[in-house]
Amino acid sequence: MINVTFTTADGEKIQAQGTGGSVMELAVAHNVPGIDGDCGGVCSCATCHVHVAQDDMARVGYANDIEKDMLELSDDVSETSRLCCQIALSKDIDGLSVTVVRE
Ligand code: FES
Repeated sequence: MINVTFTTADGEKIQAQGTGGSVMELAVAHNVPGIDGDCGGVCSCATCHVHVAQDDMARVGYANDIEKDMLELSDDVSETSRLCCQIALSKDIDGLSVTVVRE
């Protein structure tokens, strides 16, 4: 199992476990508030915006240009912003912590 901790916009911590797919799909499956995944994970809605913990950026990586264009539509964009539909749920990110931007 791959573990991800989501911190919601109001500070609640939700621990989720999964075996594959994307971090967005994991969040939706665990009813994480603020992660809607409206576009189904094709990087065209920004309803899956998270801030990745700084310590995790090296293994998760930064947003690519397509993602950055989409993030321009979102509030509270930072250097560690990612659209979590673009983060594959793999062993490489086991223990990831992300903070949800939207309520
Ligand atoms: S689910 Fe739409 S951009 Fe991630």
